[in-house]
Amino acid sequence: MSRNSYVFFFLLFFPISLVESSLCSSKDVSLVRNLNDAPQSNFGREGLSHITVAGSVLHDMKEVEVWLQTFAPGTRTPIHRHSCEEVFVVLKGSGTLFLASSSHMKYPGTPEKFSIFSNSTFHIPINNAHQVWNTHDNEDLQVLVVISRPPVKVFIYEDWFMPHTAAKLKFPYYWDEECLHQPKDEL
Ligand SMILES: *[C@@H]1O[C@H](CO)[C@@H](O)[C@H](O)[C@H]1NC(C)=O
Repeated sequence: MSRNSYVFFFLLFFPISLVESSLCSSKDVSLVRNLNDAPQSNFGREGLSHITVAGSVLHDMKEVEVWLQTFAPGTRTPIHRHSCEEVFVVLKGSGTLFLASSSHMKYPGTPEKFSIFSNSTFHIPINNAHQVWNTHDNEDLQVLVVISRPPVKVFIYEDWFMPHTAAKLKFPYYWDEECLHQPKDEL
């Protein structure tokens, strides 16, 4: 098949792949975007809503990435660490931050507990294992998150006493998966 008829074949039978590829490219992205129209998903994690407000993969951001996330009551992030800075602003709701500041030991160990609340802000030091938990019974927890050095490489722990060396790398992370795996030279 010539390249043109190959492309034609694709457009005819897989128009959806066009939609996906524009979702994953920064070319068609306008400067001012309505977050109400931004792609939003739980990426297979029940009770999570994630929007990449400005991202490395989606918008070609080089230094920082911004997320808008909502956690349903009772839901939480995995226990995890990453070698980037991370800043949270709590827009709505309340919950608990668990933070282990022991990246120099063999495992995170018992974390410190901090209450987080609407209009509070906190940052996670590089490589400290942490977990954000919506501990409220019936209110969503909504946070705006800024990370440095995107796309994020996350090491996930099953518990606070799992050795750092056993933490499992998740890369690309859930919301980067689709587009980081996109073959670059198709279409
Ligand atoms: C959070 O800050 C906004 C803006 O200053 C304010 O209108 C709102 O009442 C604050 N909410 C709480 C729960 O403090």
